[in-house]
Amino acid sequence: MFSKLASRPIAIGVAASLSMALAATTTTSNDVASCDSSSPVPVSKMLSTIQSSLSRIEATLGIPPPAPKYTPPSGASYNPTVPSVPPVTPHGIDIVLGAQWGDEGKGKLVDILSQTYDVCARLKSLELAGVKWEGRIKLSDRAHLVFDFHQEVDGKQESKLGRNKIGTTKKGIGPAYASKISRNGVRVGDLKDMEYFEERFRILCDYQMQANPGLKIDVEKELDYYRKISPYVQNMTTDTIEYTNQAYLAGKKILVEGANATMLDIDFGTYPFVTSSNPSIGSVLTGLGVSPRKLNGIYGTVKAYCTRVGEGPFPTELVDQPGSTGEFLRSNGYEFGTTTGRPRRCGWLDIPQMKFSTNINGFTSLNLTKLDVLTGLPELKIGIRYTLDGKPIDTMPANLKIMTSSKFKVEYEVLPGWTEDISTCTKFAELPPNAQKYVLRVQELIGVPIRWIGVGPNRLDVVDRGPGWDVVEQKRM
Ligand SMILES: *[C@@H]1O[C@H](CO)[C@@H](O)[C@H](O)[C@H]1NC(C)=O
Ligand SMILES: *[C@@H]1O[C@H](CO)[C@@H](O)[C@H](O)[C@H]1NC(C)=O
Ligand SMILES: *[C@@H]1O[C@H](CO)[C@@H](O)[C@H](O)[C@H]1NC(C)=O
Repeated sequence: MFSKLASRPIAIGVAASLSMALAATTTTSNDVASCDSSSPVPVSKMLSTIQSSLSRIEATLGIPPPAPKYTPPSGASYNPTVPSVPPVTPHGIDIVLGAQWGDEGKGKLVDILSQTYDVCARLKSLELAGVKWEGRIKLSDRAHLVFDFHQEVDGKQESKLGRNKIGTTKKGIGPAYASKISRNGVRVGDLKDMEYFEERFRILCDYQMQANPGLKIDVEKELDYYRKISPYVQNMTTDTIEYTNQAYLAGKKILVEGANATMLDIDFGTYPFVTSSNPSIGSVLTGLGVSPRKLNGIYGTVKAYCTRVGEGPFPTELVDQPGSTGEFLRSNGYEFGTTTGRPRRCGWLDIPQMKFSTNINGFTSLNLTKLDVLTGLPELKIGIRYTLDGKPIDTMPANLKIMTSSKFKVEYEVLPGWTEDISTCTKFAELPPNAQKYVLRVQELIGVPIRWIGVGPNRLDVVDRGPGWDVVEQKRM
């Protein structure tokens, strides 16, 4: 939904669409970026520029490209009784979503994208600072703009909350969504008619200054700035709904990356410790403007353990003590915020949470990342059930008081660990028996096939069990 132009935070958000061919963009749940494989600029380069959040691993450029995603079935099958028929060449829209509280490793998505997809859409905010204007980025004309004052308001609101703070990233996204819902937001497409833009912008500024005493906006200066950049922005603006649907009809392969993760969803997450959008399956429809009938694979990204940044409930959290398992996970997994360096809270894999996330998103397969981080732990725990006052409860409680009460507990199952280095494993069968057991148990508990397994920090350190481990492929047989 937003972006920064030059050194100024401008924003370009997309509210309902995305884009393809170039790259589209949306914000938290509405930004979309896309890549066009026919474009001369390497996709990986472009995306690494705009994705400030890419992990250190993506920085290791020059590594040979990953193997094509769809290889013939290896013979492994989720349901071995299904006859093995070669999968139909996949087309349509595949989606990658974070299944937990974020930072599951979706960022590496850029790898597969650039290799096998024609169009990539991002449902998150795009900061345009440093992005070459011409190129493959397509902004939705329905994307909302995040202005400097949105950012200012965000910071003020958060500091007013004191110790009750939500832990927002103070990028102005929440206030920009508030403008969108209050129907005085300003959209990328409004720049097409400067008179209309000016009218909308003045109304918004008046409203903001009234609602936030002390907030000063130099309206004329801002307007000058937007007049200046308008032609450049318009050059990358597209009706991304038309674009996406046409790409679909032309048989293009489209990959959509959701921002953030399901447990940060404004409706389904641990409200109010959530983001301002719907980073679950619904945002793919409302962000892109496509029918659910066009969706194909829905890939959930899930860490082999669990982390959370900032405030909010986290049932399987490991309490920090020097030398504790929580610290082990944090240092082994480099669990520190990519921009702020904030240590992430660490804990065990949480099955009730994953079932909740699976109910909402309908994952066709899972990508279990960072399994190697567990190497060396003598035993592993998996949170398998929540109880309240000793009685099992079936789902994630909506009420945070319940979730954080001392009567709320997690029951664990304990599995043996392994000590072997798994980073060179390329096939499931090469994993140590206890690592295999862990993966199979997680798969059984969640009830969704695990197709990909992350075994090391390098982007090529992924075991792909093949399309047989994807419910979508099964359906086609
Ligand atoms: C818009 O794009 C066209 C074609 O790529 C280019 O020739 C033109 O200079 C661009 N205009 C601006 C203002 O960037
Ligand atoms: C959500 O994703 C955006 C874009 O990647 C990021 O800037 C923001 O920090 C994330 N928010 C949370 C609460 O994790
Ligand atoms: C699975 O996760 C790995 C990181 O462990 C990443 O490189 C890969 O692109 C992911 N695959 C999918 C389909 O999300």
